[in-house]
Amino acid sequence: MTTTSYSSLPSDVADRLRGIELPDPLGFGRLMAPVMSIAYHRDGAWETPRLTGLDPLPLAPHTQALHYGQAIFEGMKAYRNLGTAFPGSPSMLFRPYEHARRFNRSATRLGMPELDERVFVHALEELVTALEPLVPGQQGQSLYLRPTMFGSTADLSVVPSTEFCFLVLATPSDAFFTAPISAWIERHYSRAGAGGTGAVKAAGNYAASFAAAAPLRENGFHQLLWLDAVEHTHLEEFTAMNVFVRRGERLVTPPLSDTILAGITRDSLLGLGPSLGLRMDEEPINVHELTDAIRAGEDIEVFGCGTGAVVAPVELIGDESGLRLPLPARSTALRLRETLLDIQHGLTSAPEGWQWPVNALPDTPQA
Ligand code: PLP
Ligand code: COI
Repeated sequence: MTTTSYSSLPSDVADRLRGIELPDPLGFGRLMAPVMSIAYHRDGAWETPRLTGLDPLPLAPHTQALHYGQAIFEGMKAYRNLGTAFPGSPSMLFRPYEHARRFNRSATRLGMPELDERVFVHALEELVTALEPLVPGQQGQSLYLRPTMFGSTADLSVVPSTEFCFLVLATPSDAFFTAPISAWIERHYSRAGAGGTGAVKAAGNYAASFAAAAPLRENGFHQLLWLDAVEHTHLEEFTAMNVFVRRGERLVTPPLSDTILAGITRDSLLGLGPSLGLRMDEEPINVHELTDAIRAGEDIEVFGCGTGAVVAPVELIGDESGLRLPLPARSTALRLRETLLDIQHGLTSAPEGWQWPVNALPDTPQA
């Protein structure tokens, strides 16, 4: 890696960044950037987020989030700018204001204070600028960003926290999946119920998936495919991705509800599909109809989409009863993946606000 001068950064932050090498292979989350952004909400107001080292936080054993789970997060990415539309910007955030808005919806649902969208995006810009040499260069790789908020008051009474901690962590990463995945239909557990927290990124949603994921891992599968909590007959989403099914020229994804996360990648694909000649529909998907049609050899593609994964084709669907349905490789998911990555890397233009150029520090060498 090139030697970099960090003289425009606070010296303690700059010191942390010297001599870091990107791992090879990069993987997902293998190298945590040694610098993060942090701010506390105290006495009813947010501090200005500031850069600091990735050090352990001082947490009382009775910190509210540890007991009552007042914790939310976002998953987003800065991509290396490989295009020419934004000269002087070595990297770009993808749809950061959409992530800011969803972060605030999550905060509101969990009784936490909102953060001004501009402050949220500025914290990301500042961190990505500082970490510019850690934004990897290959198409599909990115600096994965993890904005997080948790209740940091030390208080065992079952009331909302009065103090909150906002963090943004970063890790240079490959896409979550770089090859087709296998999906495990979850027939017993549910991810979300009506009126619950399924539509937001509450940390507890993920904790509640871990026991369900144990048999999946024993059987070598990658992602849970959740069904609705009432009848267990309709697809909802994967562990960490929304689901799409293509039958012929028609792509279908379940309509948003209060049990499905409104994925920003899902929304992007719904917007991009028509320009690729695809018909995009939001409709309930019956799991029995789907598996029958796959068994009958219909032209079907199933794929997941999300920030971490981008677009991940499914090559095998299974479940606890021993169902194993291979899906032949098809091209639509990969075409959507390429189209989206071209936008994310600035190689193709995109709707206003999708590509968010991040400027370099004056002394940051460009890749
Ligand atoms: N659904 C769940 C449960 C997720 O964790 C994610 C990932 O963030 C998604 C869907 C996809 O959302 P997005 O495309 O905004 O990353
Ligand atoms: C993402 O896709 O960014 C997510 O937040 C999912 C995560 C649990 C890896």
